[in-house]
Amino acid sequence: SVYPDQNSASKNVANRIAEIIRAKQEKGEKAVLGLATGATPVKVYQELIRLHKEEGLSFKNVITFNLDEYYPMQPDADQSYVTFMNKNLFDHVDIDAANVNIPDGTLAPDQVNAFCEAYEQKITAAGGLDIQLLGIGRTGHIGFNEPGSAPNSGTRVVTLDDLTRRDASRAFGGKENVPTKAITMGVGTIFKAREIILMAWSETKAEIIKKAVEGEISSEIPATYLQLSDNVEFILDEAAASLL
Ligand code: GLP
Repeated sequence: SVYPDQNSASKNVANRIAEIIRAKQEKGEKAVLGLATGATPVKVYQELIRLHKEEGLSFKNVITFNLDEYYPMQPDADQSYVTFMNKNLFDHVDIDAANVNIPDGTLAPDQVNAFCEAYEQKITAAGGLDIQLLGIGRTGHIGFNEPGSAPNSGTRVVTLDDLTRRDASRAFGGKENVPTKAITMGVGTIFKAREIILMAWSETKAEIIKKAVEGEISSEIPATYLQLSDNVEFILDEAAASLL
């Protein structure tokens, strides 16, 4: 769907998440949310915080799994996705810290594969993702599934694309400071979510959105895999949709 602007689109996504949380709560179950970082979902989180503060939306029965984290990365670093999530959402709602899951950027190389496997199992044990939020990188990555990622890939360590590191360079004060690797849920992990929402705002995303939505399905642009799923919705502002 195309919205006139990022605000109205983000409100709509937040309302959908709130609906899932409340529906699960009524059944006495936990909602399982797959969350994303980056500038794109920030207004969704702001609206969720507003719903919490002003309309009594509780996160007590919410379990979250974040898509990705830089590797290596200390959780208390300014650029970590742990810091991002705390600042933009978790510090402002009543979620139980034990229900928050973000890939661990501190693991030794010989521990990381077991961690990735356990992350997959934890998602499954929680009942699977009710909804997965996605942004899109200019390489066409979802999470950090860069070009070359397989459609059935699972949570794993990946090497970041040069363009991705360039796009992240401002936050790190130079590309040379951006980690070369990340831990990311796989395309296959994302695909198992019962609902997937990919959001994109502004003309800087117009070109990659055109490729993702209309381009040939290929590992060269992992977001094109989303064309294969019936559970995906692209939520765009007019600028991001301008080349469709
Ligand atoms: C990072 C994240 C992605 C995100 C992308 C786009 O690479 N790992 O999950 O979609 O950035 O970022 P932004 O939303 O800031 O454009």
